[in-house]
Amino acid sequence: MLKSLFIITGLMTFLFSCKQSKNTEEFTDWKSKGDSLTAQTFDTLRKTLQKAISERGLPGAVEFCNTAALDLTKIYSGKEIQIKRTSDKIRNPVNTPDEMEKDVIMTYQEQKEENKQLTTIVKQDSKGNQHYFKPILIQAMCLNCHGAKETQIKPDTWDMIQKKYPKDAAFNYKEGDLRGVWHIVFTKSK
Ligand code: HEC
Repeated sequence: MLKSLFIITGLMTFLFSCKQSKNTEEFTDWKSKGDSLTAQTFDTLRKTLQKAISERGLPGAVEFCNTAALDLTKIYSGKEIQIKRTSDKIRNPVNTPDEMEKDVIMTYQEQKEENKQLTTIVKQDSKGNQHYFKPILIQAMCLNCHGAKETQIKPDTWDMIQKKYPKDAAFNYKEGDLRGVWHIVFTKSK
């Protein structure tokens, strides 16, 4: 009796630890794939934006952003990888969040309110696709176009934003605020 109990406990511990390590391994795998994709995309976005600002000025960069940001996020998207940026306060309507994205944004907002470290989230959907999420925080340079309407966004920049995005809600942010999330879908290969 006692012996079989030992065996069962041993077996359960074994199975459990196996399952755990497999999950952790999978998480680390998706996390590192997502981390490198977001780093590359962000780097390209940042460089292109800086170039556009220096060549065309801020209002010109807004105009440029309109078409360029989307194409940029497509560079690294393939058939099996989709990269998206979204937010609860969007500027470009094509970035409107879906239910899963809204959920994750809410989780990050709660973590922020509780002063917790915002972590990478990986979720699997019912089709077996992996969804990678990473928070996007506001940095000083972002305030030129996402900061306080009157004091940080200059009138000509503001006019251009209003012209291109009449329903814009992505302003009045402060440095360190949660601006939105990166969402990468790794479609399960058949
Ligand atoms: C030159 C102005 C400008 C600057 C500077 C800028 N943005 Fe934007 N941002 C835009 C415009 C215009 C859009 C809408 C077009 C698009 O989809 O990228 C946008 C869209 C976004 C989106 C997609 C969600 C949405 O609201 O449509 C995120 C996320 C974002 N910006 C984050 C940032 C962050 C973080 C920084 C700083 C590192 C930054 N932006 C700097 C102009 C700017």
